[in-house]
Order: sequence, then structure tokens, then C-alpha cells
Amino acid sequence: MKEQKYKDLIRDINSLISGEDDVITIMSTISCEIFHSADHINWAGFYRVVGNRTLKVGPYQGGHGCLVISYDKGVCGKCAADRTPQIVHDVTKLEYHIACSSETRSEIVLPVFNSKGELIAVLDIDSLEVGSFDEVDLKYLSEVVKVFKSV
Ligand code: SME
Repeated sequence: MKEQKYKDLIRDINSLISGEDDVITIMSTISCEIFHSADHINWAGFYRVVGNRTLKVGPYQGGHGCLVISYDKGVCGKCAADRTPQIVHDVTKLEYHIACSSETRSEIVLPVFNSKGELIAVLDIDSLEVGSFDEVDLKYLSEVVKVFKSV
């Protein structure tokens, strides 16, 4: 069920961004498609690397997001610092989670690399439900962010 939704999502994203090479345009499109792919998702978008171990909010959909996150703060910061995906089953159990919305219960954050292998952003997806994200989400969302390896 989840796998089929992701296959549809990836097909739609690939079709929408076909021929596009502008990073912000692609990020905006991906945020929109992910946000609207499931009712429990309350935030989907990107935090961009802006230098000196700092992320700034990029294209997203959902309630307002923190504007600036340093690498030593939050799940997004940890993802950027470690360059590894983060899955948080229950954000209330994680003391360094940044609660932009008190309604968020679980989240997944993936690093985004460009063609040179440089970290350019993280993809952050938040859910209203505990335990929304697992290895299946990680597998397919890793496919989604691979698009930035060719821009
Ligand atoms: N979930 C993030 C903060 C960003 S917002 O929730 C949009 C974190 O703890 O890194």
C-alpha cells in the first residue's frame, strides 16, 4: 500500500520536473507533491545549507517553519551534521527536536546532495501521527532526493 503510493509519487514528481534544472523549482514541486500525498503530513519541505553549519528554510508546504537551524539544533541539524537520514518515531521523546508545530508527532529528515556530492539541503517531512516513517519511507524518499545529484 505504502509502496504503491510512493511509486505513484515518484512517477508524478519525475513527470512534473522532467527537463527542469532549477533547484528551487524542483524543491517547490517535491514539497507540494509530498505534502499532498497523505493526510497525516503537516509539513514537507527543505532546509538549505547556507554556510557555516547553518540551514535556512527553503521551499515548503505546511505551517510556518523555523527560519534558521544550526547544525547543533534539531533533527534537521543532526541530519546535516552527520549527513545521514533521521527517523524519529515520537518527537516528544527526543529532547533536541525543534517543535515548530506542537502537533507534529513523528518525522523523517534526509540529506540532499548535488552532483559534486556536496550537501545542499535536507528534506524534512513531519507527521501528525506517531511512527509514520520507517525503512520503506526511507527507501523511496532516498530515490526522490537523488534527483538533485544531476543538478
Ligand atoms: N522538525 C525539525 C524542525 C523544523 S520544523 O518542524 C518545520 C527539527 O527538529 O529539526
